[in-house]
Amino acid sequence: MADWRSTLDGVLNKAWCELEDFQSPRSGPPGLATLATTGPDGAPELRSVVLRSASRASAVVETLTDAATPKVAQLRLAPQIGLLVWCPELLLQIRLRGEATVITGKDLPDEWAALPKEARQNYGVTPDPGTPIAASDAYQRVPERNRLACLRVTLRQIDVVHLDPKHDIRALYTRADAWRGQWLAP
Ligand SMILES: Cc1cc2nc3c(=O)[nH]c(=O)nc-3n(C[C@H](O)[C@H](O)[C@H](O)COP(=O)(O)O)c2cc1C
Repeated sequence: MADWRSTLDGVLNKAWCELEDFQSPRSGPPGLATLATTGPDGAPELRSVVLRSASRASAVVETLTDAATPKVAQLRLAPQIGLLVWCPELLLQIRLRGEATVITGKDLPDEWAALPKEARQNYGVTPDPGTPIAASDAYQRVPERNRLACLRVTLRQIDVVHLDPKHDIRALYTRADAWRGQWLAP
């Protein structure tokens, strides 16, 4: 059995190593997370996002988005989110819960400056993302600094599952419990 699996601290360390390393070009493109919000009708809404940063010290993760996307309006009404990360090479599932704060353009001067020209194209689709259009190409990309939004998620729970032929393991960590952790039946 891998050493890190034998203690609650070891499992949490492994999960944070993966989250903090999410942007590195390991075997392919940057890893994708699935972000869940609550839609206006109370139903869950899911979409792929790229994690842009993760800090174990504050237990905060961030992703970037277009401020005009429906998810931003949803988060302003209902900031609770779920984030799912699957690390296929490790057979590790990391499920995060937390509360998102939306930070927009004028408060993100460094992030905008750091974005390559091509990446800026993602922040400023006209008409707004999700608007019905007459043809598949009937939209324009007009990069605009105020359309950049950072979703800063303050985590309150981390649920980790690791698959192993001998025995799967699962552990739950909460901010309220100072991230001490608790083994769970998988
Ligand atoms: C591979 C991939 C990566 C994506 N990364 C992001 C991302 O980092 N941020 C983002 O807002 N949307 C990203 N998207 C687009 C979203 O999945 C989604 O279509 C878009 O943000 C609109 O979401 P909404 O209508 O739920 O607000 C990505 C899509 C794909 C297919």
